[in-house]
Amino acid sequence: MKTESNNQRGFWGSRMGFILAASGSAVGLGNIWKFPYIVGQNGGGAFVLIYLVCIFVIGTPIMLAEFTLGRKTNRNPVGAFDQLKPGSSWTGIGYMGVLAGFFILSFYGVVGGWTFAYVVKSITGSVLAFPSPKEAGEFFGNFIGNTGEVLFYHALFMGTCIAIVLRGIHGGIEKACDVLMPTLVVILFLLMLRSLTLDGAMEGLAFYLTPDFSKINANVILVALGQAFFSLSLGMGCMITYGSYLSDKENLTSCTVYVVIFDTLIALLVGMVIFPAVFAMGLEPTEGPGLVFSVLPTVFASMPMGHGVAVIFFILLAIAAITSGISLLEVVVAYFIDQRGWQRKKAVLIVGSAIFAFGIPSGLSFGVMADVKFLGMNFFDHIDNIASNYLLPLGGMLTAVFVGWVWGTKNAHEEIEKHENEFGFPWAQCWEFLIRYITPVAVGIVFIAKFFPH
Ligand code: TRP
Repeated sequence: MKTESNNQRGFWGSRMGFILAASGSAVGLGNIWKFPYIVGQNGGGAFVLIYLVCIFVIGTPIMLAEFTLGRKTNRNPVGAFDQLKPGSSWTGIGYMGVLAGFFILSFYGVVGGWTFAYVVKSITGSVLAFPSPKEAGEFFGNFIGNTGEVLFYHALFMGTCIAIVLRGIHGGIEKACDVLMPTLVVILFLLMLRSLTLDGAMEGLAFYLTPDFSKINANVILVALGQAFFSLSLGMGCMITYGSYLSDKENLTSCTVYVVIFDTLIALLVGMVIFPAVFAMGLEPTEGPGLVFSVLPTVFASMPMGHGVAVIFFILLAIAAITSGISLLEVVVAYFIDQRGWQRKKAVLIVGSAIFAFGIPSGLSFGVMADVKFLGMNFFDHIDNIASNYLLPLGGMLTAVFVGWVWGTKNAHEEIEKHENEFGFPWAQCWEFLIRYITPVAVGIVFIAKFFPH
């Protein structure tokens, strides 16, 4: 039996609660903001197909490995590796994860703040006042350059995450996700109905769903793999931490499958909302990061019921950002609770404020600090780059090596099969093969390609 050594830790109240919370972590800005614009930039349907392969062949095995590590040890990422190989340098993967959580939330919180601001600006109608994406883009550029406004909404977003995580696992994170995730699904369906019934929607669907294989090259595959990692919240122990609050009797494999499918369906649905709308309004899908903040408002402005649609779209984006933000905060908080023996309240307040403070230069990176560049990138881009392109793939690869070779798939298998949960032929063999050989090699290739850009 496990010992509840630290009553500050907490637990999930139900299996559904866990699945919603883990899905809440996975479904975020990565799905709604990033996925559509990189699909647009990388040629549509063919990219979607490669992304799906990455999700199932590489992402899914790592997610199961992370859940297993978490539930086995009941610890944050540092504690988890330390418990299985005490005093070894494998603990370093855990430290990297905690650091990555700190870094990612520092800029994720900035973008989360933008989504809050756009909820307000879509209600007042100010984002809808533009005839073309050019003007809407300028409006967006002015807003993210406005120090006072950006910091205000950034603080509001971080304050919301802090308020939820303060209430703990069951009473805070799980309760919030129980309400927010179903709301998100309903909103998404409403948006999809609106989008698909626009004149000219089918052209967008064709771009999105018809693969054109001439568009695929090594870089497209790298982008797809990186996106699979980010979207499933893998590579930094986020799912180790969430798995650590899970009871022994739950079935880890089915939880993994639910979370992966949920995250993937949401990303695919978001595409069904955005591409039909973009094409129906005669706009280009290759806009890039501004797709959601400058192209969509123009689309909304020119479509029937557009004002209401804009408001619910930005609420959707804000909800998705919150349920991911809290998972990032919880990783760092869990480290201080487990390893340093802090009270939850102290840990959340100190860690949350520190992450906010560290995020301030990222928030200012499009305004007063836009010219503060080092190696051609601003502060925001550097933190994003270090965390997403280096720490995450390295963390994911080392986690796979650790579970596949060091702790061993036999031990992992035992943990997965606890309480008569079956993990048999051919799935177990398949997972073992993927986690030992395919995952480390595939992620290694991505990592090297990032390190030595061609
Ligand atoms: N998956 C989230 C998204 O799609 C972001 C996120 C939350 C994340 N926790 C993470 C990414 C851990 C990497 C690692 O927006």
